[in-house]
Amino acid sequence: MTPVRVALIGAGGIAGAHLNAYAQVPEAEVAAVCDIVPEKAEAAAKRWGVPKWFTDYRKVLQLPEVEAVDICTPHALHAPIAVDSLKAGKHVLVEKPMASALKDAAKMVKAAKETGKVLFCGIKSRWAASTQQVKQFVSSGALGEIYFAEIVATRRRGIPGWGSTFIRKETAGGGVVLDLGVYLVDTLLYLLDFPKPLTCSAIVGGFIGNQSEAVVQGGWWWNPQEFEVDDFGAAFLRFDNGAAAVIKVCWAAHTDSLGTSFLLGTKGGLKLTNPPEWFFDHAGYMAQTKLPQASDSQDGFVQEVRFFVEAIRNGTPPPVRPEEALLVQAVLEAMYRSAQLGREVPVKVPEV
Ligand SMILES: NC(=O)c1ccc[n+]([C@@H]2O[C@H](COP(=O)([O-])OP(=O)(O)OC[C@H]3O[C@@H](n4cnc5c(N)ncnc54)[C@H](O)[C@@H]3O)[C@@H](O)[C@H]2O)c1
Repeated sequence: MTPVRVALIGAGGIAGAHLNAYAQVPEAEVAAVCDIVPEKAEAAAKRWGVPKWFTDYRKVLQLPEVEAVDICTPHALHAPIAVDSLKAGKHVLVEKPMASALKDAAKMVKAAKETGKVLFCGIKSRWAASTQQVKQFVSSGALGEIYFAEIVATRRRGIPGWGSTFIRKETAGGGVVLDLGVYLVDTLLYLLDFPKPLTCSAIVGGFIGNQSEAVVQGGWWWNPQEFEVDDFGAAFLRFDNGAAAVIKVCWAAHTDSLGTSFLLGTKGGLKLTNPPEWFFDHAGYMAQTKLPQASDSQDGFVQEVRFFVEAIRNGTPPPVRPEEALLVQAVLEAMYRSAQLGREVPVKVPEV
């Protein structure tokens, strides 16, 4: 198989993990690196033995040897670069979240449909062994019909501080709801078999991140003066199959836990710990047991690169389909909209 020649765009924090992954997948090869900061592009090219480096991604798209791009820029740039890349005939792997706004995510999915190129959003929680284990268990029917789920991620003081692109509205689009919420919403929808989300009632805000007196030690050294996004989000969602779910997520809060994620079904319940804990009735008793511990030891980025290559070379659909990533983005957008309006809102999913 000829290796898939990829250009990596955005040589910041996460790019190293991607470049390290490409180095381990012989079916792929990094042909160019691009960053608007020339020193970053050059350093990444040197470190990883990449033959060419650029500061303008449009130049990268003109390279005939480049078949695919891997977008590792701040969120707000995912869509313009992805759309231009797809239109230039390149396959696209884009870091999570798909985009910073729903309308931009819709443009990406539309461009992928029109060009027939692969568009794969790297929401790596999807293929984590722990998610796959729970998905298999749920698919066995052991929980019956799931009517309620709660999905949670807590960082007491984990506001990303490096480079500040995560905490500025212009580059990030949003805060924790986009950054970690994307994993939660994707996992929730995946485990529930992608029911149609109908309504969302949410609170989202930056409650601690902009406090000049906030304790940043023990966290990731963000600068409260630069903090413009949300550090907390919670939502109640209703689905077309009658089920409902709660999402709670924070980068910073005065607690060590927002609780444990769980699924409640008509035949059983599952706490989404690792190992997961299963609650059920058996022989006239209320019983509970632990499933085996899932090992998340595989490098998720190496898996991601393999999925991308297989999608390009063999036509195997990547684990996160563009329409699924769009649905996830629609829920995230509804959380922001509901919080802004202070009321429940319909979850709008654009027709693409
Ligand atoms: N999957 C994960 O575990 C994980 C972890 C961290 C970040 N991420 C995601 O990766 C993406 C990037 O995050 P990061 O932490 O690497 O951010 P970062 O700010 O460290 O890096 C982004 C890089 O993009 C460059 N850039 C900006 N505009 C550009 C342009 N027009 N063309 C080329 N380069 C440009 C910046 O100079 C910077 O070097 C985000 O989507 C983020 O959510 C994922």
